[in-house]
Amino acid sequence: MDDIKNEKQAAAQEAVKLVEDGMVLGLGTGSTAYFAIAEIGEMVKNGLSVTAVPTSSRTEEQARSLGIHLVSIDDVDEIDLTIDGTDEFDLDLNLIKGGGGALLKEKMVARITNRQIIIGDASKLVDKLGAFKIPVEVLPFTVHYVKRMIDGAGGTGHIRMNGGDFYLTDEKNYIVDADFGLMDDPYSVSDFLNDVEGVVCNGLFLDMAELVIIGTSDGVEVYELEEEG
Ligand code: A5P
Repeated sequence: MDDIKNEKQAAAQEAVKLVEDGMVLGLGTGSTAYFAIAEIGEMVKNGLSVTAVPTSSRTEEQARSLGIHLVSIDDVDEIDLTIDGTDEFDLDLNLIKGGGGALLKEKMVARITNRQIIIGDASKLVDKLGAFKIPVEVLPFTVHYVKRMIDGAGGTGHIRMNGGDFYLTDEKNYIVDADFGLMDDPYSVSDFLNDVEGVVCNGLFLDMAELVIIGTSDGVEVYELEEEG
């Protein structure tokens, strides 16, 4: 296993220590969340009883194969704890997510989660969000319209492709990856994107994470928001 994989696994192993019997869990998507789901599967085999909401068809498949009891996002009012990965995070614990295309369910799950735990390798920490383009999920018939709106607002929209076809999300929408450079104010970029007709969801996850756990070569580093006042 290479170093990055070890870091991801170390972060996942630390995060699952927060899982308790009887919880409703959110299960994230991506190569880091994969390790957490594998750990939770082991815990279920050893008697843990949880209900979980998957954030993508990939995660659903993995969790189902491990015998984790699943429900859909529409079946629950709130989620106790979610463990998910990220593409970038800053020291305000704001995130860019959706590199793997699962941002819509990931954001819905995060929105109703009491403790959103983010896990990753050391490469995910940035001073300012924005080197990673912001994934923007759009209704298919609006894809060029949304790209033009992003371009007109000083960004650059890149329509995500899969070979010669548009990249399709689980919900059969398209993605425009928006480059606004390194952002001083991700809140205004998020507000702008949310106002564009056709946008279903954008990949800026602001004020949603409670804790970020990063695997390192010799353990984990934990990032928490500083208490106010
Ligand atoms: C999935 O859509 C994403 O939000 C992932 O959570 C994010 O891309 C992190 O993925 P990795 O853990 O594979 O880096």
